[in-house]
Amino acid sequence: MSRIVYVNGAFVPEAEAKVSVFDRGFLFADGVYEVTAVIGGKLLDFAAHLTRLRRSLAELRLASPMEDGAILDLHRELVARNAIDLGHVYMMVTRGEADRDFAFPPEDTAPSFVLFTQSRKSIETPEVERGLKVATVPDLRWARRDIKTIQLLYPSMAKMEARRQGMDDAWMVEDGFVTEGTSNNAYIVTQDDAIVTRSLSNAILHGITRAAVLRTAAEAGLRVEERAFTVDEAKTAREAFITSAGAFVTPVVAIDGTGIGTGRPGELTKRMRAHYLEEAIRTAI
Ligand code: PDD
Repeated sequence: MSRIVYVNGAFVPEAEAKVSVFDRGFLFADGVYEVTAVIGGKLLDFAAHLTRLRRSLAELRLASPMEDGAILDLHRELVARNAIDLGHVYMMVTRGEADRDFAFPPEDTAPSFVLFTQSRKSIETPEVERGLKVATVPDLRWARRDIKTIQLLYPSMAKMEARRQGMDDAWMVEDGFVTEGTSNNAYIVTQDDAIVTRSLSNAILHGITRAAVLRTAAEAGLRVEERAFTVDEAKTAREAFITSAGAFVTPVVAIDGTGIGTGRPGELTKRMRAHYLEEAIRTAI
C-alpha cells in the first residue's frame, strides 16, 4: 500500500512526494533528521527527539520548520493516516532549495521539511533472538557526530563492509576505542556486571535510547560506567549490546569472529531490553 508522506506543507501519496534537485539536502547533505519509534500507534521518547532536533538545527544554524506542538501534531497525523501500529516516523529538515553554492543561502530561505513512516511487523526480530555479529572498522566520519546530520555515507559503507564479512553490523573504532555502531550506540557488560558505554562528546551521537537505558539501569541499581572501551575489552566482556530507536536494545554476540560471553544473548541485555520497552511504552504519547 502506498504511504502518505508529508512534504513542505502537504500530505501526498509517496509517488507524488518530491523535492527540488537544488535542495541543499540533496547537493550538500545539508540537513538533519530524527527517527522516532512507534508502538501501539504512540510515539516513544518523543520529547527527547524534539530536544535533539532543536540542538542539531542550532549547531548547523538551520531554520526551524515549525513549533514543537505542530511537529508533534504532524507526527500523530502521519501515524494515523498511514495506520501505523508498529514502526517509526522519519523526520528531516534541510536548508532548502538554493543555487548550488558552498556559502549558505539567505537566512529567509525556507527549510525543506519531510516526514514519512515505516511500518514493521513485530518488535521481536531474528536478530534479537540470536544476537548480532559485528565487525570492527575504522571510524572515518567527520568530527561532529553529536549532530544528527543526513550525511550517512560512511556508516552505510561500514555496514556494507560488515555484510561483506558475513556479519550484521559494524562497530567503529578510533584510537583503539569503540565509538559506536553504524546507526546505534555500543555497550559492553563487564565480568563484574558493570554496563559500559562511551561517554557523551562530539565523538558519538547522543542517543535518545542510550539516555533512557542508562536511566533505567541506574533506577534498577545497576552499575553504569560511561567511558571508552577497547575492542580487546569488548572481546572479553560478559555481554554486549546496542541501542537505537530502531533496535531498542539488541544483543551483540560476536565481535570480529570472537564470541562474547556464552556466544548467546546475555541475561542482563535481555532484562535491559524488557525494562526499556516497558518504560518507553508506558510513557509513549
Ligand atoms: N540511528 N548512533 C548513531 C550513529 C545513530 O545513527 C543512531 C540512531 C544512534 C542511536 O540513537 P537513538 O537512540 O536516538 O536512535 C546512535 C537512527 C535510528 C537511524 O539512523 O535510523
